[in-house]
Amino acid sequence: NKIGVIFDLDGVIVDTAKYHFLAWKNLADELGFEFTEAHNELLKGVSRVRSLEILLDIGNINLPESKKQEYLVSKNEDYLNYITKMGPEEILPGAEKLLDNLDKLGIKYVLGSASKNSPLILKQVNLLDRFEGIVDGNSVNKAKPDPEVFLIGAKKLNLKPEKCIVFEDAIAGIEAANRANMTSIGIGNKETLNAANYNFNNLTEIPENFFEKFLSKNNI
Ligand code: G6P
Ligand code: MG
Repeated sequence: NKIGVIFDLDGVIVDTAKYHFLAWKNLADELGFEFTEAHNELLKGVSRVRSLEILLDIGNINLPESKKQEYLVSKNEDYLNYITKMGPEEILPGAEKLLDNLDKLGIKYVLGSASKNSPLILKQVNLLDRFEGIVDGNSVNKAKPDPEVFLIGAKKLNLKPEKCIVFEDAIAGIEAANRANMTSIGIGNKETLNAANYNFNNLTEIPENFFEKFLSKNNI
């Protein structure tokens, strides 16, 4: 096909943001400061290392590098305790229908996520085999809002960036898609994601004929 789709994982396909939140909150508790859901917004789409830096800034805490490494490991162990209990029932509403629709149209899709745990999460929810390729936190050097993750995704799809549509729930992700010269679709709060080309509250709101319309509108 002439277009392709790149999906973010956390907050688009599955709601793992709540588990990241719990794991980071546990760490903040241990360090003795409050970490709220509003704080957690700042961590969405952001790499693990950068997330810790933001968290420590919120708590006004300075740590030696060795201690940071320790906390990165313990946070992830904590997070994995939640992830390994996940199942297909945690796929967000509308996601499977959307993938079915893309299959029907012969439009290929890849994953473009900052998470190093992406393959494990996709396996837990039985979606690993459906993607044409996986670009995750293990394969990129520069985190979103850098467009690298999506540009590698376009290569996997064998398409020019202009022919790629990105589904994202994070501000940093929408910025990355826009910088990659792709069509960005914000999933979540419209005001928060106002830099996106299209906005939907969730995947169930995407019209059945969205891609057909997109193709004809762009003369593809
Ligand atoms: C996603 C999430 C972030 C998370 C990042 C790294 O982008 O939205 O909240 O920090 O992945 O995830 P990881 O599973 O590698 O710690
Ligand atoms: Mg996300």
